[in-house]
Amino acid sequence: DKGTYPFYMLKEIDEQPNVMRRLAQVYLSETGEPVISDKLLNSMKQADRIYIVGAGTSYHAGLVGKRLFESLTQTPTEVHVSSEFAYEQPILSKKPFFIFLSQSGETADSREVLVNVNAGGHESLTITNVQNSTLSREATYTLLLHAGPEIAVASTKAYTAQIALEAILAKALGEADNQIVAQRFDVRHQLGLVATGIQAIVDEKNKIEELAKSTFLDTPNAFYIGRGIDQNVSLEAALKLKEISYVQAEGFASGELKHGTIALIEKGTPVIGIITQEKTAGLTRSNLQETMARGAHILTIVSENLAKPGDDIVLPDVDELMTPLLSVVPTQLIAYYTSLNKGLDVDKPRNLAKSVTVE
Ligand code: M6R
Repeated sequence: DKGTYPFYMLKEIDEQPNVMRRLAQVYLSETGEPVISDKLLNSMKQADRIYIVGAGTSYHAGLVGKRLFESLTQTPTEVHVSSEFAYEQPILSKKPFFIFLSQSGETADSREVLVNVNAGGHESLTITNVQNSTLSREATYTLLLHAGPEIAVASTKAYTAQIALEAILAKALGEADNQIVAQRFDVRHQLGLVATGIQAIVDEKNKIEELAKSTFLDTPNAFYIGRGIDQNVSLEAALKLKEISYVQAEGFASGELKHGTIALIEKGTPVIGIITQEKTAGLTRSNLQETMARGAHILTIVSENLAKPGDDIVLPDVDELMTPLLSVVPTQLIAYYTSLNKGLDVDKPRNLAKSVTVE
């Protein structure tokens, strides 16, 4: 039931602070220690490499997961688009461990990979929002996202839930491996900051709606750019804008633009920079300037500690590993309001279904 909301998507965006709190309640003890089964952690501990597999938004959540696992556990992690992995399997490490990310747990492309993984005798974990879904039944282990039903075709709270649970799991695995970074990473405190931070962003909806109206309503195309995990979020931001508002959008590594794609920038092309990582903030700002010099209409989404006068959307500060949980939210709202103000059916975009059960 969407209550007083015009569309499920907005309700689901607004639910994200609660989803963060629920995950902390379900998967963390009172002292903030992860509550993850020893069996699962032992299997993961034995792995020499983690392979994360997913499609669409879930693949994008996996990209952020790579950064979390590699920072907190030192386990090399690869992320793959399921439809590609299924028929072009990379050479596997000696002891691989697979993580399947799937909101619905029914995505055929991902299932095809899991069937091969099982045939190869490898262990796997499915992280899903749907208990008893096919992918959760067929994997060795399963963890639930507890995000509540996600009805809108455009995934929002499942993406943030997937990243939050990856953070908890990475913390657990890193601690099981005596990694000091993991011991110091206070995931409970961070999820609390994230919940309050998302709330602060969604409370400023009106401002984001105005921005969406002035910048995205009449544009045929747009770019989101960033580096590292900001680039990962830019892919998700662009996907959201494409799928519900039909603006042709690209998420791009900001340093790579000048190697060709900058030719597409014309007078008024929106280019949105996501800036949350200290070591690359200055570089992304210069890349934005380069597009502005070619006529782009630039906007910035920036963490508070890196903000400068004139930035458009300022995000409350959290650990640099957790910033995707905040930076994605204004981009969800931009996509929502662009679709809404074009008079489109936000929850049911053309040509798409909620779960994709064909290859
Ligand atoms: O249910 P899944 O997470 O496996 O679905 C994967 C994609 O089909 C899904 O994330 C899709 O990209 C979303 N509609 C994007 O908003």
